[in-house]
Amino acid sequence: MSKPRVLSGIQPTSDSFHIGNHLGALKNWVAMQDTHDCVYFIADMHAITVEQDPKLLRDRTLNSYAQLLALGIDSKKSILLVQSQVPQHAQLMWIMSCLTGIGEANRMTQFKDKAAKGGTSSASVGLLTYPILQAADILLYQANAVPVGEDQRQHLELTRDLAIRFNGRFGDVFTVPQAFIVKETAKIMDLQDPTSKMSKSAPSGCVNLLDPLKTTEKKFKSAVTDSETKIRFDQTKKPGVSNLLTINSAYSGQSVEQLVKAFEGRMYGDLKKETAEVVLSFIEPYQNRVAELLTDKSELETLMHNGADRAIEIAQETINAVYAKIGFAL
Ligand code: AMP
Ligand code: TRP
Repeated sequence: MSKPRVLSGIQPTSDSFHIGNHLGALKNWVAMQDTHDCVYFIADMHAITVEQDPKLLRDRTLNSYAQLLALGIDSKKSILLVQSQVPQHAQLMWIMSCLTGIGEANRMTQFKDKAAKGGTSSASVGLLTYPILQAADILLYQANAVPVGEDQRQHLELTRDLAIRFNGRFGDVFTVPQAFIVKETAKIMDLQDPTSKMSKSAPSGCVNLLDPLKTTEKKFKSAVTDSETKIRFDQTKKPGVSNLLTINSAYSGQSVEQLVKAFEGRMYGDLKKETAEVVLSFIEPYQNRVAELLTDKSELETLMHNGADRAIEIAQETINAVYAKIGFAL
């Protein structure tokens, strides 16, 4: 029997992934290669739903591709592609947008948040239809599971609804996918404000994988904790300490319980310092791998094109099945 298919994407909207991206999403991408048939992509088409700088977008796409390889995505085992190089994403998106209600699209909380930030009147139609493109990304490859962070749950629900709607109306074409959200590390919090999610939009509390090592060390040193002294896990009462424990656990491989025991009677400063150490011991070799990959851009471009070619084979099959069902000329 063939392995279940996994699909996920990430936007090339920063120079570096951060540990929230890594622990909330990318770590699973790597792990799932052993048990699943994986398709991963750089969502550059999603990245233009807000204004982009063309050169920066192209650089970040290449950079993100190198970072995914350095994190352990194996371009032989898995398909690693750039969204805009596979035109079938846009083709299927049009069809799915004709199955989506305006009210349904309007209810997406990420759209509401993003539109509110930039002023609703200046939000693009692309920002509104963003989740429909995401649904097309997933359905195109008949994915069974989609590993993402908690914030993407609603988009996954929409994807499932659209798949069910299409299958019901025209006959079975799409696999209805499941969201795959990993519990303990699903949400990494900001080091400066541990009640909000770590995000590139708040740089002071965000740990980027490509930041200079000294910067990362400093960020952990100045992490916000609480006025108690006891190291224990309680996300409501002790969000800062709990976040450090979660991060430490993810990079050290020790469970939170083991860590709490090991830190019994010790100070917050020790937890911060040792958490920085385990994070840095991951980051240092990672940065070397990224630097090495970026020394040969044409090799990276070749890998991208190979990924797109392999993706197109699968994607075109889905488009053919969809076109046959919906009544497009044969
Ligand atoms: P973004 O950088 O917001 O486009 O997110 C890329 C991926 O990383 C998505 O799957 C997010 O759900 C995940 N992600 C982003 N920030 C965090 C965070 N602080 N904790 C856990 N997952 C995150
Ligand atoms: N919207 C996702 C994010 O911001 C990125 C994404 C685009 C995606 N298409 C996808 C994730 C398909 C999973 C599956 O993180």
